[in-house]
Amino acid sequence: MKFKSTISTVLVTGGAGYIGSHTTLLLLQAGYDVVVLDNFVNSKPEALRRVAEIAAREPEIIKGDIRDSDLLDQLFRNFSIFAVIHFAGLKAVGESVTNPLTYYENNVCGTVSLLQAMTRANVTRIVFSSSATVYGDPASVPIREDFPLKATNPYGATKLYIEEILRDIYRSEPHWRIAILRYFNPAGAHDSGMIGEDPCGVPNNLIPYIAQVAVGKLSELSIFGSDYDTHDGTGVRDYIHVMDLAEGHLAALNALETLSLITCNLGTGIGYSVLDMVNTFSEVSGKPIPYRISNRRLGDISQCYTDPTHARNTLNWKAGRGLTQICGDHWRWQLKNPNGYKLE
Ligand code: NAD
Ligand code: WQD
Repeated sequence: MKFKSTISTVLVTGGAGYIGSHTTLLLLQAGYDVVVLDNFVNSKPEALRRVAEIAAREPEIIKGDIRDSDLLDQLFRNFSIFAVIHFAGLKAVGESVTNPLTYYENNVCGTVSLLQAMTRANVTRIVFSSSATVYGDPASVPIREDFPLKATNPYGATKLYIEEILRDIYRSEPHWRIAILRYFNPAGAHDSGMIGEDPCGVPNNLIPYIAQVAVGKLSELSIFGSDYDTHDGTGVRDYIHVMDLAEGHLAALNALETLSLITCNLGTGIGYSVLDMVNTFSEVSGKPIPYRISNRRLGDISQCYTDPTHARNTLNWKAGRGLTQICGDHWRWQLKNPNGYKLE
C-alpha cells in the first residue's frame, strides 16, 4: 500500500464492478484520488486497468474484503480518505433466495464492518448503493422517495436493513453525512466500449441478455409475461445509463458538502417495456433479437419507474442519456468484448 495524503481521496468499495468502475473513472477524471477496495468475487482487475487507461491516471487498488476489519483500519490509516462510496455487495435476487445467509453476511455484516471502521477512523461521509427494489411492488407509479418501503426477497431486505442502519447512525450521530441512492435499472456502458457490464454465466438482467442474443452467444430471449397491465403487456422499467448513474454519485458527493442525509431515486422518470427494449436494441445493433413469450418470472412487478423531481432538486442532477444511447453504448461494449474482460 502506497501512502498518500490528500484531502480529496475517496474510498470506493466494489469499485471494480459494473457501476463502481464507471464511477471510479469519473472520480479520477474529476481530479479525486481513488482507493478501490474489492475482493473480485464478481469482477476482474482488468476493468480497473482499463479505467486507468481511459483516465490516464491510476486508482490505488486493494484486493480485500469489506468484512476484514484489520484491513479496513490499515487502509483508513494509510490514506486520507474523506468519503466512502459503497458499492460492494452481492446483487443476484434469485441467489439471495437460495442463499439468504450469504447475502445477509456479505451485504449487511460487510456494511456494518465498514461503518465501524469508518467510525474508528472518524470518516463520516458515505454514499450508499440502494435500489428501487426497496419499494417492493409499488401501489402506483411514478415512484417517489416517500413511498412505503417493503422487501420482497433477501437481497432487497439487505438494502432495506442497511438503509435503516444508516438512518439510525444519523439519528445518533447527526454530524454524519449520508447519501442513500436508490438505483432503478442500470444499463449501457462507457462510450469507449472499453468498460461495461460483465455478468458471470448467463445474465439474469434483461439488457445483458438481449446483448448476448444480438451477438449470437444466446439463441433467444424469453420474455417473462405479456399479460401485464402495461402499454404492450410486457414489464415496464426505468433504464438508466450507467454513466448518468456514475454522475449521480459525484453529484451526491457534492450535495453532501451542504446536506446531511439525502435519499434519492436515480432513474430517468421514463418507463420502457421489454418489447420497447428489444426493438430499440435490434434497431441500434442491426441484429435480429429472436424471442418467445414465456411465463411471468416469480417476484416480478408490472411497472417500476421513478419521479425524478427530488433527485433533480436535491442533487442538481438528472439523467440525460436516452434509450438509443443506452442500447448503442451497451452494444459497442458487447461487440468489442464478446467474452467480457476475459483476455483471450
Ligand atoms: P457488481 O457485482 O458489478 O459490483 C459489486 C462489486 O463488489 C464487485 O466488484 C464485487 O467483486 C465486489 N464485492 C462484493 N462483495 C464484496 C466484499 N464483501 N468485499 C469487497 N468487495 C466485494 O454490481 P453492480 O451492478 O456494480 O452494483 C453495485 C452496487 O449497486 C451493489 O451494491 C448493488 O446491489 C447495487 N445495485 C445494483 C443494481 C444493478 O442492477 N446493477 C441496481 C440497484 C442497486
Ligand atoms: C427487467 C424486465 C423482466 C430478463 C433487477 C432486480 C433489482 C435491481 C435491478 C439490484 C422485467 C424482463 C428480464 C429476461 C425478461 N437490481 N426480463 N427476460 O427485475 O427490474 O430488477 O435488477 O438492485 O433488484 O430485481 O431487472 O433486468 O431482470 O428485468 O423478460 O431474460 O425484463 O421480467 O420486466 P428487474 P431485469
